[in-house]
Amino acid sequence: MTLEEKVDQLIQLAVPFFEGASDAGQITGPMASLGITEQTVHNAGSVLGMAGAQETINVQRAHLERNRLGIPLLMMADIVHGFKTIFPVPLAIGCSWDLELAERSAEIAAKEAAVSGVHVTFAPMVDLVRDPRWGRVMESTGEDPYLNAEFGRAFVRGFQGADLAGDPDRVAACVKHFAAYGAAEAGRDYNTVDLSERQLREFYLPAYKAALDEGCEMVMTSFNTVEGVPSTGNAKLMRNLLREEWGFDGVLISDWGAVKELIPHGVAADEAEAALKSLKAGVDIEMMTACYTHHLADLIGKGEVEEALLDEAVLRILQLKEKLGLFDNPYRAADPEREKEIVFSAEHREAARELARKSSVLLKNDGLLPLKPSQRIAVIGPFSRSGDLLGPWSWTGSSDAVVRLSEAIRGKLSDPASLTVADGCGIESVTEEQLAEAVEAARNADAIVLALGENSDMSGEAGCRADIRLPEAQLELIRRVRRLGKPFAAVLFNGRPLDLHGVFEEANAVLEAWFPGSEGGLAIADLLFGDVNPSGRLTMSFPFSVGQVPVYYNAFNTGRPQGAPDAQVRYVSQYLDIPNEPLLPFGFGLSYTAFEYGQAELSSDTMTPDRPLTVTVRVTNAGSTAGVETVQLYVRDLSGEVVRPVKELKDYRQVTLQPGESQVVRFEIREEQLRYYHSDLSHSSDAGTFHAFVGSNSRDNAVLPFRLAK
Ligand code: BGC
Repeated sequence: MTLEEKVDQLIQLAVPFFEGASDAGQITGPMASLGITEQTVHNAGSVLGMAGAQETINVQRAHLERNRLGIPLLMMADIVHGFKTIFPVPLAIGCSWDLELAERSAEIAAKEAAVSGVHVTFAPMVDLVRDPRWGRVMESTGEDPYLNAEFGRAFVRGFQGADLAGDPDRVAACVKHFAAYGAAEAGRDYNTVDLSERQLREFYLPAYKAALDEGCEMVMTSFNTVEGVPSTGNAKLMRNLLREEWGFDGVLISDWGAVKELIPHGVAADEAEAALKSLKAGVDIEMMTACYTHHLADLIGKGEVEEALLDEAVLRILQLKEKLGLFDNPYRAADPEREKEIVFSAEHREAARELARKSSVLLKNDGLLPLKPSQRIAVIGPFSRSGDLLGPWSWTGSSDAVVRLSEAIRGKLSDPASLTVADGCGIESVTEEQLAEAVEAARNADAIVLALGENSDMSGEAGCRADIRLPEAQLELIRRVRRLGKPFAAVLFNGRPLDLHGVFEEANAVLEAWFPGSEGGLAIADLLFGDVNPSGRLTMSFPFSVGQVPVYYNAFNTGRPQGAPDAQVRYVSQYLDIPNEPLLPFGFGLSYTAFEYGQAELSSDTMTPDRPLTVTVRVTNAGSTAGVETVQLYVRDLSGEVVRPVKELKDYRQVTLQPGESQVVRFEIREEQLRYYHSDLSHSSDAGTFHAFVGSNSRDNAVLPFRLAK
């Protein structure tokens, strides 16, 4: 390869740059906008956002005709929670606590994407999230490092399978965004992240590491700074930690434009410096800017960077192409005929429906739910007839194919004609006519379903909100409906934990549906009518109000903790106007049945590294409906060298119990689960006192003291 050919292998360009793509040339003067030549496009190593069997075949074919060495393009795309069959958003998938289904969702996404010509997906996103103002919390599985790591692994297994090279129905995964993008200050996208290295290692890094341990082929940088240096130019983070310490030798790609963004960040004066810093930091592929293309050859010529660094980057990209078999078959699984059979198949849609049922979380229920087929139901609200149930990052999905909530509910009624439907308001606007229509629709109803939420543009990338209540128009609709004195259930479609003022107290029942995906309407109706018993549990706290955020369960205590707010007490860690506790804690979720916990027991009050403890608890379904309970085990270290979280999730079990059935749930506590990062960053456990907690969420649980002896 010539020097130019090597450098160009490092650029990633979006679809419209390529001959053979249906939108080729749609970027006006595409070469001009990035300042690259046609030759660079012919030499480019990868494409971003390409999908569709025939289209990818066309583009690859045209590329191979023009590329002097016949090096195939890598086709990469954001297949985040499904391809055509859209699954619930990742935050919702997290709330299922169901790793098998999560893996299956990624496997299906991979299969649909692969047959449509995609080779690499920009997923999983495993950024730990604590601030619901940040729009991208919906892309994560939540606020817990252990659970995020487990989900990260499950997604990688699902995307890549056990034999990526030999299984063309899988795609390579790219874990993102390295690192700590979720800690953006003030919940504003792309904002500064500044954490101690201990925080970073303990809370933020484990999920990326877990994904890599599972064999994830690629890593994407993040937009934010880490310890003052933007990730994309951060040699300590990438070169030292990711590559040397963790031994990652796969492809590292910048996020969109992030190489050039080193300039506005203020750590590179120009494109050349941005290119130099990024390559030195270890970034192989530059996504959608051309700093490498413009400057690497020159920088190498001047001796400012060794050609060996470029060679390493090129080699890693070529190795991934080889692993995917592209040198033997550059089209891999792309097949227009098979695509028709596989994509959006009934089997895939059924899996999406199952996951949507498991991802929704019942937040409140005074007995209104489940609804009865004999009831006269009014479905009111901007999501009654909306197809906007797919959520952000569903560009390959089709909202036209979504069964509307009102129609799914109609299908449950003994007298379908008794259903009344009204929008009641828009997402952010309301008129008197709409309100009057809503009141009219509710007039003869026995019960009302209010379908409320945020549209998909209100979360996702660049979808940050400072006020995370429902928009005022919808709160007004709730007030009007409430005046009718009829019972109503609020069903929420949204991408973040909301401040539920104006909803939670007012409604008789609240079901958090998130963005439930292609089959979401049907799945939510299944839950509302009790054909399926809700079993989702929150993986991100719902704040009492936005003034608390970030609020998360695995926080540190203060020296002056305060449980309930008390105006009589001063000089304690509390607000004068709101509680410290979130409205709904991590792990929380209701069911149509009641689970009772017996006395939890420890096998001994002392453990050693060789002698783990066993925790047992009997859980009984004391209600009259079968249900799934998620039994959670937490631990607190009371004699840490540094302060330790008040609770840390260590394990959980999901048990299905018939009415009256009970089961003894058993956990082991092992010494390695008690290890943490000390002030010198060593990772070990300390002898001393601990508490174990067993229960149905991070708040309501039994305390069991024990000691670790060494
Ligand atoms: C996002 C990434 C995404 C990339 C490519 C960026 O703006 O931050 O998550 O993978 O675009 O679409």
